[in-house]
Amino acid sequence: MTREAHPATGSTPPQPTLAELRRSARTRLEAAGSDSPAADADALLAHALGRDRAFFLAHPEHRPPASSLARFRQLLARRLAGEPVAHLTGRRGFWSLELKVTAETLIPRPETELLVEAALARVDGDRQLRVADLGTGTGAIALALADECPAWRVTAVEASAGALVVARENARRLGLADRVQVVAGSWFGPLAGERFDLVVSNPPYVGVHEPELYEGDVRFEPRSALAAGRDGLGDLRRIVGEAPGHLVAGGWLMVEHGFQQGEAVRRLFLEAGFGGVETLRDLAGHERVTVGRLD
Ligand SMILES: C[S@@+](CC[C@H](N)C(=O)[O-])C[C@H]1O[C@@H](n2cnc3c(N)ncnc32)[C@H](O)[C@@H]1O
Repeated sequence: MTREAHPATGSTPPQPTLAELRRSARTRLEAAGSDSPAADADALLAHALGRDRAFFLAHPEHRPPASSLARFRQLLARRLAGEPVAHLTGRRGFWSLELKVTAETLIPRPETELLVEAALARVDGDRQLRVADLGTGTGAIALALADECPAWRVTAVEASAGALVVARENARRLGLADRVQVVAGSWFGPLAGERFDLVVSNPPYVGVHEPELYEGDVRFEPRSALAAGRDGLGDLRRIVGEAPGHLVAGGWLMVEHGFQQGEAVRRLFLEAGFGGVETLRDLAGHERVTVGRLD
């Protein structure tokens, strides 16, 4: 970007300071409808500058070089046009991990951490157990569990070729590839004849006609990661129905679902023969994760 000389003085105005950049980006993002304008502005600035937020706070008067400024302005323009911050930075924090994210993966959600918590609270982390994560996306759940429980061996299944590449890269980068095997296929398809102590899944669960598929950041995420038939229960029906054939006696099934699907999912668990069926609420108080044990 070229900087125009001031017509009266002939001098070039100074580059904006970090404080000025953060303030004006926040204002513009807020006006554009972002739910988290301050966090978005800082994440994009950090990415463009290769600096963290602590630097912005310590050096509000710093004037970034023109190349960083140009990068930041491009990122900001894309965010103002609606692209998710995680797609622009290529990163998203989940549990204690930083994961690579692309437009071919779901952006891991904070509420999915409830599924990780549920597993760690109920299943013995010190025993050598076999775990399956169906529809692993970036590998979020599989990698969080493997990181917390080094004794567990996790098989992560994914149907999207683009997401498979990302999940494998995340496993390698986090040093977890020896404990998390990422396999291609549809739900239990690649796991024929195998049984697990724990099966977890955050499958697509939004009905194809739900307006949320066409709103906000979700518009930029893969439809195949989100939508599951008319009522959003198509994939959950299949996973819960087939799970007993892939669990050991006493094995656990834990799935994430929509906040209005708790009752229907509990019914699926009971019909499939699970006991101790319970639905857990997320931080917003919504029914979000249902768990059950094979008697
Ligand atoms: C809601 S996303 C969850 C991703 C990740 N587990 C997470 O929580 O961030 C659902 C994932 O299931 C994958 N998926 C969709 N249909 C599938 C199928 N038939 N078999 C395996 N994975 C599938 C999608 O590609 C997507 O990665």
